Amino acid sequence: MNSYDDAYKSLENSEWSPPESLASFLRAEVFEHSRVSGISSVLELGCGMGSVFESPDLSPLGINPTCVDVSETAISRASERKVTGEYLVADVTSPDFFIPTMFDLIVDSHLLHCLTRPSLREAYLANVIKHLKPESGIFAIETMVAHKKMDIPGFDKLTGIVGGDFGRKVFNHLELEQELLKAGLRIEFLIFTSGLNMIPVSGRDEAFITDPQIARALCSFKPA
Ligand SMILES: C[S@@+](CC[C@H](N)C(=O)[O-])C[C@H]1O[C@@H](n2cnc3c(N)ncnc32)[C@H](O)[C@@H]1O
Repeated sequence: MNSYDDAYKSLENSEWSPPESLASFLRAEVFEHSRVSGISSVLELGCGMGSVFESPDLSPLGINPTCVDVSETAISRASERKVTGEYLVADVTSPDFFIPTMFDLIVDSHLLHCLTRPSLREAYLANVIKHLKPESGIFAIETMVAHKKMDIPGFDKLTGIVGGDFGRKVFNHLELEQELLKAGLRIEFLIFTSGLNMIPVSGRDEAFITDPQIARALCSFKPA
């Protein structure tokens, strides 16, 4: 695979289904959080072919998200489906990435762990902060972290990467916390689940206990 767009082009007759674990995290732990109220503007980054807000867990909230993905193919498939939301093609690691709105909620739609290079994750998190309402805006992220029983063929322990440039970054716990803090985000909560695993490779739809575990975080931004 050369790019995310190639990956979407190679998916034939693909049925879209929203990421259910992200949807249930948003519903149960973000929208129910005491710090969270009055969410009207939502930015979803790395949406792929549709929005997590299409999930039955979230659709009753009536959110109309702005959704971004680097893949033209994914965005045109989302647009063809005429689902709720505004769909845009953009590289969220680019210094030119700009939407003229500040958002109440920014959702990382399983994108951060696709950015295998630290400099790209740094540029991405700077763009998140650029679009987050200071003080009141929140950034919700669900990503993958390593654990003792993890066993993934081809996993490079030194870099935490499986699958090369277009593969996945599996964080260790401290690394994730450090990257969020270094970006200037304030962590409201960071949860490491022990019973939930995330698939780190393509071509499989069932998670194993030897797959990375799921970390979930809610962050805000307070200007200095
Ligand atoms: C793991 S997929 C998740 C897709 C969808 N949210 C889902 O859960 O099915 C990550 C998505 O991030 C997108 N992506 C990767 N790098 C990106 C970038 N630099 N800018 C914007 N989107 C990017 C990919 O095209 C892909 O659709």
